[in-house]
Parts: sequence; C-alpha cells; structure tokens
Amino acid sequence: MFHSKITGVGHYVPEKIVTNKDLEKIMDTTDEWIQERTGIKERRFHPVEEGSTAKMAVKAANIAMERAGVKPEEIDAIVFATLSSDYYFPGSGVLAQAMLNMGTIPAIDIRAQCSGFIYALSVADQFIKSGMYKKILLMASETQSIALDLTTRGRGMGVLFGDGAGAVVLEAHNEEGKGILSTHLHSDGNFAEVLRIKSPGSGRATTFYPGIEENYEEIHPQMDGQLVFKNAVTRMPEVVIEALNHNNLTVADIDMLLPHQANYRISQMVQRLLKLPDEKIYNNIERFGNTTAATIPILMSELWEQGRIKEGQLFALTAFGSGFTWASALIRW
Ligand code: ACO
Repeated sequence: MFHSKITGVGHYVPEKIVTNKDLEKIMDTTDEWIQERTGIKERRFHPVEEGSTAKMAVKAANIAMERAGVKPEEIDAIVFATLSSDYYFPGSGVLAQAMLNMGTIPAIDIRAQCSGFIYALSVADQFIKSGMYKKILLMASETQSIALDLTTRGRGMGVLFGDGAGAVVLEAHNEEGKGILSTHLHSDGNFAEVLRIKSPGSGRATTFYPGIEENYEEIHPQMDGQLVFKNAVTRMPEVVIEALNHNNLTVADIDMLLPHQANYRISQMVQRLLKLPDEKIYNNIERFGNTTAATIPILMSELWEQGRIKEGQLFALTAFGSGFTWASALIRW
C-alpha cells in the first residue's frame, strides 16, 4: 500500500494590508476591541479587479510545485478547497487547472469551509493510498473581502476575515510511519444555520432577485459567535486526541500544532486544553485574520520558509468551522 507525503508547500497573500486602524475609519470599531477579542492586528484584501480565488491559489501552487521539484505536467489531480469560489459554478478547481495548463486531469472542489484544507488533504491521501494517483496538487484559497459588510452593521463579521491562499504537493511514497499518518473528519449539519451565507443558493429566491437591503442577512455572513467559540474549543482538541489515540501517540509526541486561525483566543484555549508549550504551536492570525480554508497551508508554508519543519517531526493539524465541520491530521515529516 502507498502512503502520501507533502513534498512542497507554498502560500500567497495579497499585498494590500488593511489594519484595524483602517477599519476604525469606515466603521464603529476600535483596534483594542478587535485585538482583545480576536488577536487580529491586520489582514490582507485582494483587489477584485486584480483577480480571484483561483488566481491567488495558482500563485501559491507555483511556489509549492517549485519547492517540491514537480512540474505542472507531472500532477495527476487537483483538489481545491474554498468557500469563496470564483463562480457559483463551476468550482475554482477547474479555473486553476486551466491557468496552470494542466491538460485534462481531474479537479475536485471541496466545500468544508474552515476545515476545507484538512478535508482536501484527506481526499487526496485516499487517492494516493488506493494507488489511483501519485502526485496531487492541493490548493486552499479564499477571497473573503467581497462578501463582508465593512460598515458598522457588519462589524461583527467584517473585522474577522482576510484573503489568501496556500497550496501543497502530495506525493506517493512507501516508507512506513512517514507522511500523512491519518486524517479524521467530522460534521454536524444541525448547526448549519449558526455560521453561513445563504445566497446565492438553490431554493433562495434571492439567487435570481438580488435585492441588497431586503436580503441583507442572506447575502452577508451570519454567525452566532459565542456558539461557534464554545464548539470550536471543544471539537478542536477532541479531534486531535482522536488522531493521537488512533496512532498510539500522546500529546507529548507532538512537535508542532497548526490550529485553524479563527481567533487567537480559540487557539490559546486549544493550546491550554492540550497542555502544549508555546514553542509547539504556531499562529499568524495577527497578520492575516481568518483566511478560512487557507489558514493551515499558510501556517505550514511560513514554517517551511523559516526552516522550522524538520525531518521526523510530528505535526498535528486541527480545524473547526461552518457546517459545523471539524477535522484533524497527523503528519510525520
Ligand atoms: N467592534 C466593536 N464592537 C463590536 C464589534 C466590532 N468589530 N463587533 C461586535 N461588537 C459589539 C457588539 O455589537 C456587542 O455590543 P452590545 O453589547 O452593545 O450589543 C458587543 O460588541 C459584544 O458582541 P458579541 O458578539 O457578544 O462579542 P463576543 O464577545 O462574542 O465576541 C467574537 C465576538 C470575537 C466573534 C466571538 O464571539 C468569537 O470569538 N467567536 C468565535 C467565532 C469566530 O472566531 N468565528 C470566525 C469564523 S468561524 C471559524 O473560523 C471557526
């Protein structure tokens, strides 16, 4: 049986930095409020006229493929995670495939919101384990800025998100105990209403009659923040423990935890519940906000650039988000 391992990681964030002070000028908020509740200092916004979710993903993918030493023509399949697809349909996977001149290989779109990257990793890992594909390009990219209401009315959600993309190359290998050790996926659709954008959606009249004011709550993200918080801090450590138990490992074996970057307070609580020291967790929410599916590959790519990923280390990934969905993965580099 084959195993999969990550051989290259890349990320791209737009140049435009939007600080909390910038938001103070356009809505009733303060740098103090945002930092205290979320840990965010600034985020990146991608100018609409400069492109799209797929374009950012392609930039991250080119870096990941170069680091892996893999050419686009060698890739067997694409798995693309996003909640902010360029079009209602088709998904961004095929758009990225065309931009990368990848012939007619399959492009699979994953819609698992903040858990999207780990879901995508799991799907790609199964394709490699089954022997169907040898080299898979995973992309996770989000253009959140276009859906946010950046006025006082939308400040609850507007201050939390940023744009960006991450990508990894996953390749088949046959070394036991190396690479993706396991992935663990969960969802509970009973919480679908708690964090969502409803339109455009089939069955929503607003898809076809988009009146901005009367459909305000349909076309902008809505969230019960406290319920999300409570569930995130329970599910994220729980699914890490599930992964460790599955592999007969303990928290002490983890060299680095990469938690989805929803909120610094969530990361801190996950760290505390798992009793991990500061040097074993990596956060960057202060610079990028919540880039949803892209947060984990961006974290990984930054560590790669800093030379902080060493052979033999055990990485734990954990995410929680809209759906609800939650997931974990263990990687032995
Ligand atoms: N600036 C200033 N005041 C604000 C802002 C803002 N940007 N947003 C809300 N407020 C006000 C509210 O209007 C409210 O005022 P009121 O008391 O006069 O009514 C007050 O601040 C408190 O609002 P709450 O929503 O109750 O604030 P809370 O303490 O819950 O913090 C937050 C909000 C940060 C979103 C919190 O609920 C949270 O961390 N939730 C986790 C969810 C999360 O991070 N989601 C991200 C996406 S999901 C994911 O990735 C997992």
